[in-house]
Amino acid sequence: MSIIDIKDLHFSYGSGEEILKGMNLTLDERSTAIIGQNGAGKTTFVKLLKGILKPTAGEILLNGKSTKDLTVATLAKQIGMVFQNPNDQIFKNVVLDEVMFGPLQIGMDKGTAKDKALKALEMVGLLDQKGANPYDLGLSRRKLVAIASILAMDTEVIIFDEPTIAQDYAGKERIKEIIHMLRAEGKTVITIIHDMNFVAEVFERAIVFAKGKAVLDDTVKGVFLEKEVLDGAYLEQPDVMKLGLKLELGEYLNVEEFVRLYQNTVR
Ligand SMILES: Nc1ncnc2c1ncn2[C@@H]1O[C@H](COP(=O)(O)OP(=O)(O)OP(=O)(O)O)[C@@H](O)[C@H]1O
Ligand SMILES: [Mg+2]
Repeated sequence: MSIIDIKDLHFSYGSGEEILKGMNLTLDERSTAIIGQNGAGKTTFVKLLKGILKPTAGEILLNGKSTKDLTVATLAKQIGMVFQNPNDQIFKNVVLDEVMFGPLQIGMDKGTAKDKALKALEMVGLLDQKGANPYDLGLSRRKLVAIASILAMDTEVIIFDEPTIAQDYAGKERIKEIIHMLRAEGKTVITIIHDMNFVAEVFERAIVFAKGKAVLDDTVKGVFLEKEVLDGAYLEQPDVMKLGLKLELGEYLNVEEFVRLYQNTVR
């Protein structure tokens, strides 16, 4: 398990307005969703974790070590990040080569890299496409290739930036399974996501970003019950919760919880 401590983190692009205005958070093994309106600074935040951007003030500690003192190569071995847009990530002409690239880059030998790549392709359901050209695949499958290339690196921390965009039901179920699997392996999984129903079904913890700060940080249910703060951050509650509250039936997070608890109340 990896722990990431974020201490009074500030960031601005050049001389522009501050995007992150002093964030204090500890990320651990709980599967965590980061939510917030467009432009709230979510992608900027994870790029700072990954070391692609440098804090303008404050610091990030990975397992007690400041990321300032870690090289990009060391960070790459410990933190994997799947970009919002797979086209920013994919550049090889063969799926298997693409998925092996990351593992080779962080120093795995060819045999291990291939094993990890094949396992990752199996996890995302694309083993049969290993010889395909990623650019011949549709956006949803290209996104799964991008996910596989990060899974193959077997990092302790995995960041997903909007994994469910362009995914159909099957793709979303696949991503849900992958998150659960990584969690079970003790990895720290951090996911930026706009789909509140998916958040309600999958994660243990949610953090709300607004105006450069983390304005809520709690269990997913705890966060979704803070209607006023959510309104202020331009976020909505999951559908099942809205329905339960509107019908005055109770506070239900998702379908599974609704069925379990509501059945008890009517019995
Ligand atoms: N390279 C950059 N240079 C200058 N400003 C940037 C750059 N990248 C992002 N920004 C600005 O920083 C702010 C935060 O952007 P960021 O991409 O982190 O938001 P986000 O929460 O990921 O949004 P979305 O949900 O739309 O992906 C926005 O106002 C954006 O315009
Ligand atoms: Mg973003």
